[in-house]
Amino acid sequence: WFKDVKENPAFKTIFNCSIKKSEMITCIFSLKEEVGALARGLRLFEEKGINLTHIESRPSRMNKEQFEFFISVDASCSQALDEVIDGLRTQISGHVHELSRNKQKDTVPWFPNDIQDLDRFANQILSYGSELESDHPGFTDTVYRARRKEFADIAYNYRHGQIIPRVEYTEAEKLTWGTVFKELKTLYPTHACHEHNRVFPLLEKYCGYRQDNVPQLEDVSRFLQSCTGFRLRPVAGLLSSRDFLAGLAFRVFHSTQYIRHGSEPTYTPEPDICHELLGHVPLYADSSFAQFSQEIGLASLGAPDEFIEKLATVYWFTVEFGLCKQGSEIKAYGAGLLSSFGELQYCLSDKPKILPFDPAKTSLQKYPITEFQPVYFVAESFEDAKERVRKFASTIPRPFTVRYNPYTSSIEVLDNTQQLKNLADSINSEVGKLCEALRKLD
Ligand SMILES: [Fe+2]
Repeated sequence: WFKDVKENPAFKTIFNCSIKKSEMITCIFSLKEEVGALARGLRLFEEKGINLTHIESRPSRMNKEQFEFFISVDASCSQALDEVIDGLRTQISGHVHELSRNKQKDTVPWFPNDIQDLDRFANQILSYGSELESDHPGFTDTVYRARRKEFADIAYNYRHGQIIPRVEYTEAEKLTWGTVFKELKTLYPTHACHEHNRVFPLLEKYCGYRQDNVPQLEDVSRFLQSCTGFRLRPVAGLLSSRDFLAGLAFRVFHSTQYIRHGSEPTYTPEPDICHELLGHVPLYADSSFAQFSQEIGLASLGAPDEFIEKLATVYWFTVEFGLCKQGSEIKAYGAGLLSSFGELQYCLSDKPKILPFDPAKTSLQKYPITEFQPVYFVAESFEDAKERVRKFASTIPRPFTVRYNPYTSSIEVLDNTQQLKNLADSINSEVGKLCEALRKLD
């Protein structure tokens, strides 16, 4: 149901991570289904000298007589794209649904203020879930691709506050999950950090983590909310780094729901439900790790592009591929490690280089995305890593400070005295409770 117009290396899937590095402008427009409609639309792009880096099409769900087109262009074309959109609307009665943000118009990039604003990301994905690279194990499997589209549609239509639709996984899918689950479970006691090992039995007890059962995102999300307030949200495709990190500021983790192709259960070129549930989820149930992740998310809100890239790199070397000290040992806490049988063993061998986690340096480290990492960063503890990220965040040029208000699930921008007074009141009340509790302990 889609067609790649042009192979673009910028669209290569990033292994183990739903984030993208390069900035694109994306747009969805619909046209009446008739001979020559798309050609007329594309001519507008051609006239303005815009090169489409990506295009997909599908029948419109809103109007059966229309087709929707999802396109991407390089961010440098933003001004010309505005004119094309004008043309689409006025010259050929096209309907433009959604545009990614035009950063050149804003001095501070837009960021979500309220948890419901995350719904906007569903329409700003950089690729749709059923789009597979030609070297993907499921590329020629039409049944698998159709299945991927079902998952993508769930996520595309999901809105905050809804129950994440339950999925009946097929026997073949359960078999794939079972293979991954069984193999990794043998390594966790010796290779995973103790936070992971503490939570894993709880997931088996409360969330249906079993070799013969793929857990449901809704059950896992509820469990996480009861532990740390983190919640899962299904995602249809790749999000930009900026959008993905913004979710973390709200303690929202964008999670895939589909499973890797059954022909290669130990390999996936992209994040899948095995990676999310076995790698990420256990850590999000730990309060220190949850705070650490949220800190990265908060630092990203309104940050300039170059800092988004740095924060995405910090995320890569911590949440995805982080190691941490535990007593005299080093263990893995990164989800990319905890969901890879091969790399989990490799990362604790003497082969890779191990450096201390220091966001200023870590954020500049280059990394490969389709092979084992040559370098890992080891954190003293999640608390220490969080403090370091906080300090690093203070170097980001932003004319304001942000704070998450868990009561309203919204971001407070601390840029006026009233906001600061509210914060002082809230801290005052907490300190009062702390003093009272201390007195009672005496
Ligand atoms: Fe991941």
